Amino acid sequence: MAELKKLGRYEIDKVLGKGGMGIVYKGHDPEIDRTVAIKTVHFDASLPEEHRETLKKRFFQEVRAVGKLLHQNIATIFDVGSYEGVNFFTMEYVEGMTVQDLMASQNRPSIESAVSFIIQASEALHYAHQQGVIHRDIKPANIMVLSDGRIKLMDFGIAKVTQESSQGPEMATQAGFIMGTPNYMSPEQITGKKVDGRSDIFSLAVILYEFVAGKKPFFDENMSSTLFKIVNEDPLEPIKIRGAIPRGLNEIIVKALKKKPEERYQSGQEFAAALRNFQARADAGAVDPFTREFGQSEAAITQLLFNNCYAFENFTDEEFSEIFKICEKHNFKAGEVIYKENTIRSGLYVVISGKVEIFQEIDGKKVVLSAVENGQCFGEMTVIKQFPSTTFAASVTNSFIISVGEKALKRAGTGIYFKVFRNIAVGLLNKVIKCDQRVGEFIRKASS
Ligand SMILES: Nc1ncnc2c1ncn2[C@@H]1O[C@H](COP(=O)(O)OP(=O)(O)OP(=O)(O)O)[C@@H](O)[C@H]1O
Ligand SMILES: [Mg+2]
Repeated sequence: MAELKKLGRYEIDKVLGKGGMGIVYKGHDPEIDRTVAIKTVHFDASLPEEHRETLKKRFFQEVRAVGKLLHQNIATIFDVGSYEGVNFFTMEYVEGMTVQDLMASQNRPSIESAVSFIIQASEALHYAHQQGVIHRDIKPANIMVLSDGRIKLMDFGIAKVTQESSQGPEMATQAGFIMGTPNYMSPEQITGKKVDGRSDIFSLAVILYEFVAGKKPFFDENMSSTLFKIVNEDPLEPIKIRGAIPRGLNEIIVKALKKKPEERYQSGQEFAAALRNFQARADAGAVDPFTREFGQSEAAITQLLFNNCYAFENFTDEEFSEIFKICEKHNFKAGEVIYKENTIRSGLYVVISGKVEIFQEIDGKKVVLSAVENGQCFGEMTVIKQFPSTTFAASVTNSFIISVGEKALKRAGTGIYFKVFRNIAVGLLNKVIKCDQRVGEFIRKASS
């Protein structure tokens, strides 16, 4: 297909992503002079013309209904149209990252941030439900997070029409229509029962579970067993996967994932209120000895390291506890040097709060190699072997850092020592592989 330059009055800038139904573009509305996101929606070409016309009408109707939603946490719909046979709608362009990408990134959010995202989503859903609009496709790809921590929900109600497109209108109201990923669907959606706002809340709770436990509650290699689990099996409580998850939060998630809608939170507002209550209690209890020493609760720091520090991959909560016992704590001021080039030391550093830069001085000039923050580690290669440092490390902001020496790790037990050693060796291997690839590319370029 020739590259699309325009859709109606909208100028197309670039592709933002592809979904099941079409493509999302970044574009420009010259009339209002604003950036927009444009989503094209394609109906199955093999469907009879007449059926496609009905779908198109339904699509316009649905977008019209969703277009009434005006909320700070919902990507606003601006326009709907059809241009040279392509159906599309335009919406607010959201500068951010989808929750799906965030979950897959190196920088997974803390429990506190995850809870804040879910509260915002839950309140936005409550607003939509009150306007009579059910989302029906709450999943990580349909939630975007902005750099300031606000979230926006996207693709309200569209699932209803798109599902009809692939299965025929009669199937959409019956059991068994599934498109894309089923992991976030509610039991009533799968069994084809009547769906109301409580179904969206269930899907949202699946996302919260995945955030805090690091695993999906209902997952199997094949789709039919995943669906079976959603309808019939209680998921493992998040606290059984990660003992450091606060009990209050565990209970909220368990309730929100009940099979029967009447046993769950009854509205987005109710779910959000329970989470806000949990937040307030967590804040009030924030002065236990651990928090006094480390600045955050043990659960929060465990989660931070679990999400972001590869050296502790596959660590249990007990092993994390052990690390907190043996580590040294450091407060560095903005600009303070942590270690210099050529220093011989042994052990790894982890940034709990603040930001550190790793740099070299080349011909008197500072060349920054990387920035380390939010639970990430640095200096870890010295766990494998002591060698004079080839870089400087300095704190950019005021920072709180823990360090674990190689000897302390050994004393903590062979299990812990071996795990850290192995993780770092794998990290090193990955670096070597990347280096090899780059050298290969370089040689290829040089010889061509
Ligand atoms: N309003 C928007 N602003 C900025 N980027 C967007 C916007 N809407 C979508 N995107 C980007 O486009 C990508 C594709 O979105 P799309 O909704 O087509 O895919 P999906 O949600 O994975 O699938 P589907 O909704 O078809 O089930 C998203 O992952 C996101 O990165
Ligand atoms: Mg989407």
